[in-house]
Amino acid sequence: MTGKDPGSNARSGVNRRAFLKGSGAVAAATALHQTELANAQEQPAAIVRESTSIKLDVNGAEHTVKVEPRDTLLETLRYQLDLTGAKPVSLDGSSGACTVLVDGKPMMASLLLSVACQGKRIETVESLGGDKVDPVVRAFVTHDAEQCGFCTPGFVVAVRAFLNKNPKATIDEIRAGLNGNICRCGTYANVIQAAVAVVKGDVNG
Ligand code: FES
Repeated sequence: MTGKDPGSNARSGVNRRAFLKGSGAVAAATALHQTELANAQEQPAAIVRESTSIKLDVNGAEHTVKVEPRDTLLETLRYQLDLTGAKPVSLDGSSGACTVLVDGKPMMASLLLSVACQGKRIETVESLGGDKVDPVVRAFVTHDAEQCGFCTPGFVVAVRAFLNKNPKATIDEIRAGLNGNICRCGTYANVIQAAVAVVKGDVNG
């Protein structure tokens, strides 16, 4: 017997007790790290919910609204300004039912944040009605271009935007130009005919 610790390693200079002590500390640190990671994953990032007053130019009038940073234009139009023409059919904008004009361009109101629309000119389907009904609206009525009507406001705005840019569009161009809007009732043929009627100036009512 030399009196030496039987677990010692003469070459490395590490004895078993020190090794076990060290590996225990590493295990504890790893467990702590994993707990912290799990906690971080469980806790969502802080969400800012403070409302801010902003001004929006909608249908030619300035409106003051109180919005949270996460509020979409669609929510603000519908729930604060009572403009319910744009529909929340597909919140990813794939149906086109929430089409509005922003600075003259057709855009999906569900994909725009209200705060980002300050200083822009917003026009909803409601701006095409009133005292001076837009020919597109009249053509939709004349050509019976709706069934349940859920897609109709979005289609009307999309047709208006497309014909503003392409007033002499052919039927094929109209068909291609409206491919961002979907009608579950299948009224496409009538919608196209309504748009063709506007191009021809053949709108009654
Ligand atoms: S009329 Fe029903 S979805 Fe188009």
